Amino acid sequence: MLTHEDNELLCRVGPGTPMGEVLRRYWLPVLTSEELPEPDCPPVRAKLLGEELVAFRDTNGDVGLVDNYCPHRRASLFFGRNEESGLRCVYHGWKFDINGDCIDMPSEPAESNFKDKVKITAYPTVDRGGTIWTYMGPKELQPPFLNLQIFDYPDSHIITNRVQSDANYVQVIEGNIDSSHISFLHRNLADLDMSDFDDGTDIVGTPSNKMSTKIRGADRNARVVVQETNYGWRYVGIRTTPNGHNHLRITTNIFPIYQMISRLPSQGPGVLMMVPRDDETCWRWSVSARTDRPNTEEEREDRKNNSGNKTDIHGRGEKGKWNDYMLSRDDQRNLSFTGIGGVGTQDQAVTEGMAVISDKQNEHLGTSDGAIIHNRKVMVNAARAMLEGIEPMKHDPAVLGKVRSHEEIMPFGDDWRLYGAFAGEDAGIKV
Ligand code: FES
Ligand SMILES: [Fe+2]
Repeated sequence: MLTHEDNELLCRVGPGTPMGEVLRRYWLPVLTSEELPEPDCPPVRAKLLGEELVAFRDTNGDVGLVDNYCPHRRASLFFGRNEESGLRCVYHGWKFDINGDCIDMPSEPAESNFKDKVKITAYPTVDRGGTIWTYMGPKELQPPFLNLQIFDYPDSHIITNRVQSDANYVQVIEGNIDSSHISFLHRNLADLDMSDFDDGTDIVGTPSNKMSTKIRGADRNARVVVQETNYGWRYVGIRTTPNGHNHLRITTNIFPIYQMISRLPSQGPGVLMMVPRDDETCWRWSVSARTDRPNTEEEREDRKNNSGNKTDIHGRGEKGKWNDYMLSRDDQRNLSFTGIGGVGTQDQAVTEGMAVISDKQNEHLGTSDGAIIHNRKVMVNAARAMLEGIEPMKHDPAVLGKVRSHEEIMPFGDDWRLYGAFAGEDAGIKV
């Protein structure tokens, strides 16, 4: 349970809010690169942390991200003309470059220096991994760009996927760190009893994908243990396998919102980020890499169409609250636990089905909710510290580059903390 006051602290992210300031100390994804496909293409609207913004790709191919409202008389720059290295407001022709400098003011006398005094808010951007990232905090505190495992691979290997979610970002994050729900929400009914299946991988080491599914169905009472690290925290869900071993699913969380959900090595690295558009909606970003070769165009299309909630270029899904996520009661009886197609959509249905900002005073959290409890504590503490002027943790890029999720069957009696501690081994995990 969380008091109403702490819930407000945790969930509100607009300019000037303590949590909004915490999130403004880190690089965040804002658009897919394909939304701005070429130099001088049409500008697009973007919303992040409650701020209305407009993005454009200038003549050099660099991306500008500026306030939506022109500083002259507050017209929307979305209607602007993107031409010759700047975005020109269509109301009176003022023009701004990607740094926010006013580079032309044709409505004022030629001898006026008024244009040198006018600036528009502009945030720095990086275009990497099919994703446009931005940093919205104070210039003097800007950290180096994120060094994540996915960036060990070139952009051609990386696929980015984004779906808008109609819920506060906190409950969407909490869906990702809720290990026990995968034994229920995402089950196909046929997987619930796989007692006849055995491919010999319920032994110490890496299980097959199918064995992993069997184990998650056989032990639905994962023991959750959280460990603090110097990049954030990680947690394990431990299940007993049919052969009596301990099966570990280790999920890592780089503070504040970069999550690497436990995956088998064959699935390649990936990071999930739940990024607030405003207090009531967020983006579910998934950025993942193939380790063996570039993705083909067909694979990229396929990912968009078959990720469970087919999206348009702006990340709007075809399933949502308005059509009950295309729930089929027949499928719920005969095929799957939910009757809703697609893992991500199943997550959306439950996290959006809570109140838009979920009331956390009336929850009853149990032992399997340990990671959620821990994350709330860490986030609320960071927001409280920010109120007192204390900055949140700064990341060491060398450590970030080593953070991994992990899945393995370990010998009975071993310490799980020795598994998958790629960053901790060098950086001194606090235990
Ligand atoms: S409102 Fe933009 S130039 Fe006047
Ligand atoms: Fe899920």
